[in-house]
Amino acid sequence: MEWGPHIRPTQAVVDLGAVVGNARLLSEKAGCELFAVVKADAYGHGAQAVAAALEREAVKTPGFLRGLAVSLVEEGVELREAGIELPILVMGPSLMDAHALLVEQRLTPMVSDSRHLTPLANAARALGKQLGIHLKVDTGMGRLGIQPAELEATIGAVQSQSALRLEGVASHLACADVDEPSDLESLSAKQLARFDRLVRDCRANVPTAVQYHVANSAAILRFPKARYDLARPGLALYGNGASAAEGLSQAMRLVSEVSQTRHVAAGQSVSYGARWTAERDSTVAIVPLGYADGLPRNLNAAGQGSALVGGARCPIIGTVSMDMIVVDITDRPELTIGHEVVAIGGQGDTTIRIAEVAALCGISEYEVSCGISKRVPRRYVNDDG
Ligand SMILES: Cc1ncc(COP(=O)(O)O)c(C=O)c1O
Repeated sequence: MEWGPHIRPTQAVVDLGAVVGNARLLSEKAGCELFAVVKADAYGHGAQAVAAALEREAVKTPGFLRGLAVSLVEEGVELREAGIELPILVMGPSLMDAHALLVEQRLTPMVSDSRHLTPLANAARALGKQLGIHLKVDTGMGRLGIQPAELEATIGAVQSQSALRLEGVASHLACADVDEPSDLESLSAKQLARFDRLVRDCRANVPTAVQYHVANSAAILRFPKARYDLARPGLALYGNGASAAEGLSQAMRLVSEVSQTRHVAAGQSVSYGARWTAERDSTVAIVPLGYADGLPRNLNAAGQGSALVGGARCPIIGTVSMDMIVVDITDRPELTIGHEVVAIGGQGDTTIRIAEVAALCGISEYEVSCGISKRVPRRYVNDDG
């Protein structure tokens, strides 16, 4: 993405080197190649830039990346139009009438409903192509996927269509980030046992070229039993989830600058709902970054949110507004207009992790990074390409 001149200093700085490094480390930990999950605009990081950086690294260093995974056909088409050549797995349910488009754009559908097989085969035949597909099985997520009991018949249906080629069989875990790896009664343990039975049956009956995958980020990091031929990390690719402890780096920084400083007399309140009142004569910084940019409005609902200014944590006071936050800098008299403010990410030796913001707001890490809005320009750093 082009980075042009801008007036407001607020931006999301995305470290592409971190994403690439995380992908290589996750591949090592998973013991296999990855489908790097770049759906939802790469969890808010920018799918085109992330995909291009991963593709460049995959060309330089083969063996860690099989391809990319998106949810929507539209997301796959966007990447093809941006010139991405890697295999792209389309995981979502909305194939709708896009069968011909999938074939034309060389996208690989993860089919979770056998009613799509004939239209996909017809589309491939009409275009004189063979289409690789993955099948998704519901081992307990209760959302998408053919039932385990129907897998054999569904594989038979794929094999009866010469225009289709079965490349993979997949499932998805519902509780990989919450279940204890040692709990044999957990849903993850049950799902993995079901998947393993299916894999053993399939390996005995279908071509060896078929590859099996079930692990998302949490499963790669927590469940050795989830390791098969491929893995599909999203959250950890961007350095979130349990990643800090695993040596992965958070790729996103949400930064701005002090645009005004003001004195607030003791007893005076600040921002909507008058939720913060100065207990002493204070100095505050106005920072042009608000909930319309993706910093949740209820940041201070469950604790004290903070921003990094001048290398130190300063409290974000009162309600987050649509376009700005107010930061208490009373104890930092050297801070003034133009100083960098970090709402997410590192400054000096300190880092505000996405997990911290998520916990303060009572939402998930996924929602924080996906929520960084379109009006925040992304600036890409450490892009070797
Ligand atoms: C089918 C599938 N696989 C993999 C992922 C990646 O999961 P995570 O971001 O937890 O690694 C997702 C994300 O929702 C998914 O839907």
